[in-house]
Amino acid sequence: MALAACRAAHSVAGASPSSLAAAAAKPSSSLARPQFAGLRRADVANESSFGAVLSQRLQSAGTGSRGVVSMAGTGKFFVGGNWKCNGTTESIKKLVDELNSVMLEEGVEVVVSPPYLYISQVLGSLSNRIEVAAQNSWVGKGGAFTGEISAEQLADAGVKWVIQGHSERRHVIGETDAMIGKKSAYALSQGLGVIACVGEKLEDREANRTTDVVFEQLQAYADAVGSDWSNIVVAYEPVWAIGTGKVASPQQAQEVHAAIRQWLKEKVSDDVSSKTRIIYGGSVNGANSAELATQEDIDGFLVGGASLKGAEFGVICNAVTAKKVAA
Ligand code: PGA
Repeated sequence: MALAACRAAHSVAGASPSSLAAAAAKPSSSLARPQFAGLRRADVANESSFGAVLSQRLQSAGTGSRGVVSMAGTGKFFVGGNWKCNGTTESIKKLVDELNSVMLEEGVEVVVSPPYLYISQVLGSLSNRIEVAAQNSWVGKGGAFTGEISAEQLADAGVKWVIQGHSERRHVIGETDAMIGKKSAYALSQGLGVIACVGEKLEDREANRTTDVVFEQLQAYADAVGSDWSNIVVAYEPVWAIGTGKVASPQQAQEVHAAIRQWLKEKVSDDVSSKTRIIYGGSVNGANSAELATQEDIDGFLVGGASLKGAEFGVICNAVTAKKVAA
């Protein structure tokens, strides 16, 4: 199904009239990144009818119909698998085989992030339907930086994305907001897409500082990258939910995602706010992904542990169908 048609068919009750009005007022999406259909690259579908369909639905919402929109943002549903420091040649071969046999829905963009050492193996064996991300990149041009990998090397190898600001790099390795911003800007300058992670620790949440922390992290990205966020996906990953089995409730996640979208609107632009995918990460699995996906501002997932199982990761990717609930 073409993306525009999928969106026209989607709905989730509870979208506020103001968010609908804002979405209806937006121009049709023109994502800069290539989109994928099956195993072949294809141009972004013509979505010019989306705004019209939405305004029609907006009118009918005013006359008492059920809610009408499943995605506050206009970007394509996005799911990333972060394999972290896991895997061997053999286990990665098995995982790639599993991924190659998963039937992925059309309306989802899928990326996996192997450890550096196995990137070539994955690029050489994984279906073109799934892109590859690195888990980190150096802050500037390569050179005498022992142990680092530069963004231009990643691009040269065929990598399309890089994860930046993951909580393990912030809180275990000690990367600062400013460094993460710089790394992101450099990666973008080399043509990579950036999965820009943000998220609060448990103590921040308990002290009611969730949005303070998340907004500070967002500001550091904005300071470094400026106003072009067309190749950035924001990943909201509460640190207390990562690898703990304690997933944020759909309401907790939605609340922060909506706050991030509002922040983007106020601090960057309306356009960036509506087009940027805001994905959730933290103990997402095959059993909880569909319910999370029904939330209006959840545009996909960043998955750790469950991305190491091909079939389960496929289920999470296909949670995009939860956005296809009939009106
Ligand atoms: P998890 O990790 O799914 O294992 O909680 C998420 C992440 O770190 O991106």
